[in-house]
Amino acid sequence: MKTFEKQIRIIQEECNQAIRKAQSEEALEQVRITFLGRNGKIAPLMVKLKTFSTEEKRILGPLLNELKTTTHAAYEKRKAELAQEITKQDDRRQQYFDVTAYRYQPLHGSLHVYTHLIEQLSTIFTSMGYEIVDGPELETEYYNFTALNIPADHPARDLHDTFWFHEPGMLLRTHTSTVQAHVMETRQPPIAVFAPGRCYRNEATDASHDFMFIQAEGLLIDKNVSVSHLLATARAFLQTIFEKEDLEIRVRPGYFPFVEPGLEIDASCPFCTSGCSVCKKTGWIELLGGGLVHPNVLHYSGIDPEKYSGFAFGFGLERIAMIKHGINDIRLFRSNKIQFLDQF
Ligand code: DAH
Repeated sequence: MKTFEKQIRIIQEECNQAIRKAQSEEALEQVRITFLGRNGKIAPLMVKLKTFSTEEKRILGPLLNELKTTTHAAYEKRKAELAQEITKQDDRRQQYFDVTAYRYQPLHGSLHVYTHLIEQLSTIFTSMGYEIVDGPELETEYYNFTALNIPADHPARDLHDTFWFHEPGMLLRTHTSTVQAHVMETRQPPIAVFAPGRCYRNEATDASHDFMFIQAEGLLIDKNVSVSHLLATARAFLQTIFEKEDLEIRVRPGYFPFVEPGLEIDASCPFCTSGCSVCKKTGWIELLGGGLVHPNVLHYSGIDPEKYSGFAFGFGLERIAMIKHGINDIRLFRSNKIQFLDQF
């Protein structure tokens, strides 16, 4: 009986010490399992108690009970202390937390302004029933000039400062009008296509000229197509792209060998009514070239000009982007300047 009493005291002492030493909630939980758990050190004492006589139980029972209650109480007390310490530590951490401290911010890429604009234009034109098409950037003289009614001796060829290849007749396309001929050769009307893409001109660069730029070409061929269809289309897409419902257009005669009549289409300035720096105080900005597809062009590509007519138009994407976003130098688009690219 004496040994049992001693055992109870030893366990009591061990347990108190372990509880005091526990520095974390996890450590304390471990102590609880070791002593108070189902397979802990106290459980076998209860079993052993049953082996004693009633007399002995009267003494040992209360001792064991005390062991259990005091260890439970010590455990609960330490648990509360630890919780309080953790709250205090959190408070201290919060007190010294500097919300303005430098935080590493990974660089995120963004879509190029070209991509944004091509996506917007593609949405506008597909909603009008156009198909988005592509053509080669490495072209032949035929598609860039001849098929567009610009024969070899035509002075209009000189206006296109062309990058020629060593291979005779090979060049980098100077405009996206080339796509017209490719499309008309391979299908019959009705045709409605929109072709954005890169073009190249062998000329010195300045704030409004670059040797590589993006153009887009629109082409619609069907029966009885007239200038009014072209104008309605141009007005609708310019109103959407400049987000201005009351944007108006005006036309002036223009010369492009692949259309007859040829037109220069201007838009009313999206920013002012009485003249600003964007429209150079005129109230109008030049945006598109267009016209009715020349019968020779239809004929070259195998479409009967007696049966069908169509309109075509073309424009530079940079010009639209520059006006929309107030950009004053075309070279910025390809500059890879992160501060510039980041804005879009
Ligand atoms: N290809 C012309 C250029 O590079 C733009 C153009 C003008 C396209 C009139 C057309 C058009 O389809 O009808 O300046």
